[in-house]
Parts: sequence; structure tokens; C-alpha cells
Amino acid sequence: MRLDNKVTLITGAGSGIGRATALLFASEGAQVMVSDVDEDAALVTADMVRKSGGTVGISIGDVTEEGTAARIVQQTITQFSQLHVLVNSAGITARNLPSDSKPFDVWRRVMDVNLNGTYLMCWSAVPEMERAGGGSILNLGSIMSHVGYPPQFKSGFNPYPVSKGAILQLTRNLANDLASRNIRVNCLAPGFTETSLTESLTKDRETLAFLQSRHPMGRLGKPEEIAHAALYLVSDDASFVTGTSLAVDGGYLAQ
Ligand SMILES: NC(=O)c1ccc[n+]([C@@H]2O[C@H](COP(=O)([O-])OP(=O)(O)OC[C@H]3O[C@@H](n4cnc5c(N)ncnc54)[C@H](O)[C@@H]3O)[C@@H](O)[C@H]2O)c1
Repeated sequence: MRLDNKVTLITGAGSGIGRATALLFASEGAQVMVSDVDEDAALVTADMVRKSGGTVGISIGDVTEEGTAARIVQQTITQFSQLHVLVNSAGITARNLPSDSKPFDVWRRVMDVNLNGTYLMCWSAVPEMERAGGGSILNLGSIMSHVGYPPQFKSGFNPYPVSKGAILQLTRNLANDLASRNIRVNCLAPGFTETSLTESLTKDRETLAFLQSRHPMGRLGKPEEIAHAALYLVSDDASFVTGTSLAVDGGYLAQ
């Protein structure tokens, strides 16, 4: 198994890509710490992992709070003694926020969860990975780490692509610094994927057809397809891979 005895902490594990990743990692022998701000959702994922025969712990909290991010890492250490892998999958889009939110409040919250939350989790995890002799961090970027939203979205002031672009730069910067400490840092760049994050878009048939047409493969991704790429990047199969972004996007970025 590819993650035998690896302690893996996954934020945003209550849903979508984080949940699929938790299930796949557990099936590959990892001890999985499921973390999410949504307790009910985290409990469901943990139950699914347990029922599939995996080893699991839970830590609830909002990754944008400095003390909470540190606590999530410490609870992982308390439960499993070490930390080898961190997957930062907690993330939101402007669509997650109330439609009457002020534009700058939307900007601040999306940057806070996507970028600052990723930073805080990395900050607390790195010393523990060093203590374990090395590790691997995987940040959820996006195709929007590389390109802006299509003009049809009419959303030039949307913070999401900006937050994801910054995550790629955080990934590169950390990778350069941490390589000598045996910690690899990479980024995944999924195309539009069928999760609750995109539900409000995909339930509209016209928008769904538009999004499908933007991907050369003519469809959206599935969370399990993203999880398989995550497994590759955090496992020893990718032992010489750091500071990079892997597109899992049905060809979106190839155009
Ligand atoms: N679905 C897509 O099309 C897509 C494409 C590219 C990248 N991504 C990225 O992948 C990651 C996972 O997205 P998903 O599609 O699985 O979304 P999702 O909405 O299904 O899951 C995200 C999870 O993050 C949790 N979360 C939100 N804010 C949090 C906070 N402050 N602290 C802790 N947990 C928090 C949510 O409760 C939820 O369980 C995100 O970073 C997203 O930006 C998604």
C-alpha cells in the first residue's frame, strides 16, 4: 500500500475532494485525520472511512483562525504521534457566501479561507513534519491558479482565481525552502469538479453545458479522479516532485 503508516491530515475532508481523498488515502494504509469546519460533514466522512476498514481521527475547526489551525495539527499529533502528509482542501468560492454580502467582505473571506487558511495549516504542520524526518504538503489550487475566469463569467473582481494563484506561489516558495528538510510541497489544479462547491452552477443546465464545453474532454471531473492525483503527489511515487502544479482538468489548461 502506498501510504502505509503515513499520518495524513486533510482539511475540508467533510465534502467533495477532501472526502474522496480521505477515503482513498485510508484504503492505501494511511492513518487519516479528517478535519472540517462542518462537524456533521466530518463525522460522515470519518464514519465512511471507518466502515471501509480505515484508521481515522477527527478535528473540527475553522482553518482561518490561527489558534485553531495549530490545534488541528496538535490533535493529529495527540492521536497519531506524528504527521507526514497535509492536504489543504478546505476552500470556498464567492458562491458559498450570502448573495447580499458586500464585495470587499466576499474578497476578504475567500482570501482568508483559501489562502490564509492554507498558510496557517502549513505553518503549524511544518515543524511536526520536520520532527517526523520529512513529509509532503499538497495544496488545492485550481485551473484558476493558472488562468482567470472565462469572460462569460463577468467576474473580474472575483477573489477566487486570485486566491488560487497565490496558493501556487505559496507552494513554490515553501517547496524551495523546505526541500533541504525533506518536505515536498505541491499543488493540484483541478478543472471544474462535481462537488458541493460547483452545485449551484451545475444545477443550471445551460451553465453546466457551458462548463462542460470548456473542458476538451466534454465533462466535469469527479472528486475521486482528483483524489488519485493527490495520492500520487503525496506518495513516494512522486519522491522527486516538488514545487509544481499538476493539472487534473480534462484538458482545460491545454487550450
Ligand atoms: N470543485 C471544483 O470544481 C474545484 C476545482 C478546483 C479546485 N477546487 C478546490 O478544491 C478544494 C475542495 O473543494 P471541493 O470541491 O471539494 O469543495 P466542497 O465544498 O465540496 O468541500 C470543501 C470543504 O471545505 C470545508 N470548509 C470551508 N471553509 C472552511 C474553513 N474555514 N475551515 C475548515 N473547513 C472549511 C467545507 O465545510 C467543505 O466540507 C477547494 O480548495 C476548492 O477551491 C475545487
